[in-house]
Amino acid sequence: CRKRNSRFFAMLNGDDNVENETGTVRQLLAKLCKASLRATFPDDLELEPLVAICTGKFGDYQFNNAMGIWSKIKGQPGPFNKPFSVGEAIRKTLPPSDMIESTSVAGPGFVNVVLSKPWIAKRIHAMLLNGIGTWAPVLSVRRAVVDFSSPNIAKEMHVGHLRSTIIGDSLARMLEFSNVEVLRRNHVGDWGTQFGMLIEYLFEEFPNWDDAGEQAIGDLQLFYKASKKKFDEDNTFKERAQQAVVQLQGGSPNYRRAWQQICEISRREFDQVYQRLGVHLEEMGESFYSPYIPGVLHELDNKGLIQESDGARVIFLDGYNIPLIVVKSDGGFNYASTDLAALWYRINEEKAEWIIYLTDVGQSQHFEMFFSAAKRAGWLPQDGGYPKTTHIGFGLVLGSDGKRFRTRSSEVVRLADLLDEAKAQSKKQLIERGREDEWTPEELEEAAEAVGYGAVKYADLKNNRLTNYTFSFNQMLDVRGNTAVYLLYAHARICSIIRKSGKDVEELKMTGSIQLDHVNECILGIHLIQFPEIVEDAITNLLPNTLCEYLYNLSEIFTKFYSTCRVVGSEEETSRLLLCEATAVVMRQCFYLLGIKPLYKL
Ligand code: ARG
Repeated sequence: CRKRNSRFFAMLNGDDNVENETGTVRQLLAKLCKASLRATFPDDLELEPLVAICTGKFGDYQFNNAMGIWSKIKGQPGPFNKPFSVGEAIRKTLPPSDMIESTSVAGPGFVNVVLSKPWIAKRIHAMLLNGIGTWAPVLSVRRAVVDFSSPNIAKEMHVGHLRSTIIGDSLARMLEFSNVEVLRRNHVGDWGTQFGMLIEYLFEEFPNWDDAGEQAIGDLQLFYKASKKKFDEDNTFKERAQQAVVQLQGGSPNYRRAWQQICEISRREFDQVYQRLGVHLEEMGESFYSPYIPGVLHELDNKGLIQESDGARVIFLDGYNIPLIVVKSDGGFNYASTDLAALWYRINEEKAEWIIYLTDVGQSQHFEMFFSAAKRAGWLPQDGGYPKTTHIGFGLVLGSDGKRFRTRSSEVVRLADLLDEAKAQSKKQLIERGREDEWTPEELEEAAEAVGYGAVKYADLKNNRLTNYTFSFNQMLDVRGNTAVYLLYAHARICSIIRKSGKDVEELKMTGSIQLDHVNECILGIHLIQFPEIVEDAITNLLPNTLCEYLYNLSEIFTKFYSTCRVVGSEEETSRLLLCEATAVVMRQCFYLLGIKPLYKL
């Protein structure tokens, strides 16, 4: 049966390697289902398998094609008199497979599939031997741009940028795990009109700025505030600042040097945050794309997309009562012109198939509009397919007062301060648990950072990104809640079970095997092998919170297993230790995909 089955896969894959079972369980089942559909129904129905994970007591997975097929063939002569009989036909023509223990048809034709326990056990064991990379979902996209974080030079990097950084990094990690080449782009705002104001202020207040260097600027955010104040209050300064923009964009050396200096200071501040968060990004800011703007606008003009309106040059788009402005009435370019040039570059020069942007939902309309302009220009296919663009919006971070998260003095919260606080609080917690006496100072630092930064990330990622959430250190550091701390403890506990067994896991992997006999072993086994599907779903629906939910459930399911199945000293010790190890491996991969650093003891 095994051999036949493998050959069957090879046939579907069109390759010669008969042992090549790549893809998630759902994808493997879909191949079986597809074969059954092909064998049972006419080709012109163009049926695609519908396979879903199911948590009911009748099966582990379900084929959901019957209802849809019934609606197409109902009334036609043939062997089918109700959806149930369609389901029954799918069930009967399924190719034999050692994946499946049993099948049954329920209700309006759902085909329930119970997976074979030995097959699940083997799959888990193979993952332990060959690495979790072998479980990666197979996606149709090969190269993607993820445009995330993207703060503005000299302005504050606020919690909105933090959300973009955390969610964007997690998504990029999931895509990378799925073997997509990801171009991680930091589209920093380094070319706006604010630079005229900043540079003019610098020149006027610090005539020797070139020597004074960084000291002249001091604290970049205070410097920004002071220059903004002057800009708003002093009309002649405003004019001089506007002239400065022209100088800068025209390439005047003095102005460019000042610009570079300012960017450099900002960049260093951003980098510190990225380093602490373990986030890697490649900066390609607005200035990078500015040389491409004239050519791109020329192309759009040639295609008849651009019109004059109130002295500005705009693109009118169906469904919007305001046009997309691409050249302002003063002749300057704006956010949209840069984004059009960047999109052009990403499609044509970088050959990205999927271009993903992360900002708060407040910018949704900007993205919808320039995507729609790109469609009209023929850069993106009208009716789906690649290249494609997606804007991932997210809600606000709120303070305990239910308003936008701010400091007590209503200032924007600095990310560095926020991370300091997270680390300090988690360190305090670790000291209260007596870790200061057990660990070296370095270990304490490392754990405080992993827990503190992990808490901030997880508290963000566990929410559906579209909803607002309330920032609370107390909540995110609660060891009993659905928090990073709780999960990191759960993982460390599994590591300690394995350590205390005194067994060498590498050795067990080579010589032992896994059996799933106890019901809670079976539940744990199924949950483990579903991991890649959850990653796939999180990517398809662009919802990292699905992965958090999975991780939390995994730790609860493990607890149930551990409280009912004795591990160390039992007859099933080897198999159960391997299950512990597999759980730890999957948990670590979840942590990795969420950007959280796992700890082996806590
Ligand atoms: N700098 C922008 C902001 O802070 C975000 C940029 C997002 N990326 C883009 N290609 N528009 O709001």
